[in-house]
Amino acid sequence: MNWHARYLQQAAWTRDLRVYLFERAGLKTACRVLEVGCGTGAILRELSVPALHGLDLETGSLAECRVHAPAASLALGDGHFLPYPDKTFDIVYCHYLLLWVKDPLQVLCEMARVGSSVLALAEPDYSRRMDEPSALKPLGEWQTEALRRQGADPSFGASLAETFFQAGIRLIETGPIRGGAVVKSADDWESEWAVIQSDLAGFVPEREIQKMKKLDESVREDGTRALHVPTFFAWGKT
Ligand SMILES: C[S@@+](CC[C@H](N)C(=O)[O-])C[C@H]1O[C@@H](n2cnc3c(N)ncnc32)[C@H](O)[C@@H]1O
Repeated sequence: MNWHARYLQQAAWTRDLRVYLFERAGLKTACRVLEVGCGTGAILRELSVPALHGLDLETGSLAECRVHAPAASLALGDGHFLPYPDKTFDIVYCHYLLLWVKDPLQVLCEMARVGSSVLALAEPDYSRRMDEPSALKPLGEWQTEALRRQGADPSFGASLAETFFQAGIRLIETGPIRGGAVVKSADDWESEWAVIQSDLAGFVPEREIQKMKKLDESVREDGTRALHVPTFFAWGKT
């Protein structure tokens, strides 16, 4: 699995929202910015501020991030215990992170402690995933279960605004990210299926996966496929 390619794809889905939110949060005049859970640098690589920082739990991701976002200062660390003094950053943000952490409230409290503006750019709610035609519903259920098995909370997105409030962050704007209900390009479709096959391997029989893949391909070609995972953002100030 090429994770950087996957993260770039996800970053493309949220680009318009990101541009809007970063502008509202004052990125143009910000000096110090941190991404918690920066992964391979899919978002960090786009930013240009005097002091750009990224933190992640995984050394492999940070090694890739060093290549893709050479201007950033990187740290190996856990978002539950950020290794920075209070109010170090003008902006602290995350992107597809909080569903993966043990205690999203603690991570948001830490983000609020070290930053003035806090942005969670994309947190999905797979419990409200829509798959049409309905013969493809098991695919959504399997993927949600796969996320659970990997340690994620697949419906965290629905609790994002409330968790901001609990973390003492003054919410300025929150809501679902606007987006289409189909996987658009052939490349997106192939990459989506690479993720599905890697996620489901081991607990869904290969012939069932292949059956779904064929069905997905045929309904995509005849234009009757719809797929939507409600995904939420929130931003606020401390
Ligand atoms: C889905 S990836 C997203 C990466 C990046 N934010 C992006 O959108 O391209 C989630 C990242 O969060 C990191 N992560 C998970 N739990 C973490 C934690 N407790 N502290 C810091 N990073 C964490 C993972 O190692 C992974 O790189």
